[in-house]
Amino acid sequence: MPVVTFANTKGGAGKTTAALMLACELVSRGNRVTILDADQRGWMSRWHAKGATGALLSVVPVSDETIEAATLKAKKRGGYILIDLPSSHDALLARAVGLADHVIIPVQGCAMDAQGGAEVLDLLSELASQCDVRIPHSVVLTRVNAAVTTRALQAAKDFLTEKGIRTLSTAIAERAAYRDVFDRGGLLHNLDTLEVSNLPKALENAARLADEVISLLPQRNVRQAVRKEAAPKAVAKAPLKKAA
Ligand SMILES: Nc1ncnc2c1ncn2[C@@H]1O[C@H](COP(=O)(O)OP(=O)(O)OP(=O)(O)O)[C@@H](O)[C@H]1O
Ligand SMILES: [Mg+2]
Repeated sequence: MPVVTFANTKGGAGKTTAALMLACELVSRGNRVTILDADQRGWMSRWHAKGATGALLSVVPVSDETIEAATLKAKKRGGYILIDLPSSHDALLARAVGLADHVIIPVQGCAMDAQGGAEVLDLLSELASQCDVRIPHSVVLTRVNAAVTTRALQAAKDFLTEKGIRTLSTAIAERAAYRDVFDRGGLLHNLDTLEVSNLPKALENAARLADEVISLLPQRNVRQAVRKEAAPKAVAKAPLKKAA
């Protein structure tokens, strides 16, 4: 039951989008996923209310006071727990980071985002030095498109490398599908290829993101939720021999 927290104190960095991509991909692979919606504006909860996402996905609104109990409850349910944080730098951020097995810090290829990410990184190093709590973390570069120059991306990467920060090799591309899924509701995987441009590429990006994030998580506790239809068929009993 790994907990992944998405954090960046810069608004609009791509936290909710990255969490949603991962949630959709994990659910489509048959995993239970609980999203703890720690943002009072409730973007995740609103998205969840819009369309069918299936029984494997739950979205639970949480606050600073309820996040710990909600995490425990979600752990009992099994599967993956994703925490979507708002952009504030407060006790909620510290708690959500403290609960995480891995913190993902989405950063756009611009300096402001990197600054927001740096605040999260400072918090992580404070936890390490003052409380001896060391939480694995990675930056994921987001909204990468043709307009993001190689130079801007390289500047962001250099900034991170200087600080000794791991950057995921999968970057999140700018895709209409990631905006459309919020408007329409439901899983990314259930969008219509005829209506959403480049959906296969958006799905491929989500799959690579999930592969990489999963590889960074402790695997011991992931209880794969097997969908009813995917459950192994009961072994047919051998017919009873007729009495002679
Ligand atoms: N890769 C992407 N492709 C297309 N649109 C994106 C992408 N990432 C983010 N966006 C859009 O940018 C806006 C901000 O993204 P998002 O809500 O994910 O950021 P956030 O870090 O969660 O913001 P906040 O701090 O306000 O919670 C949204 O409208 C979202 O649809
Ligand atoms: Mg958000």
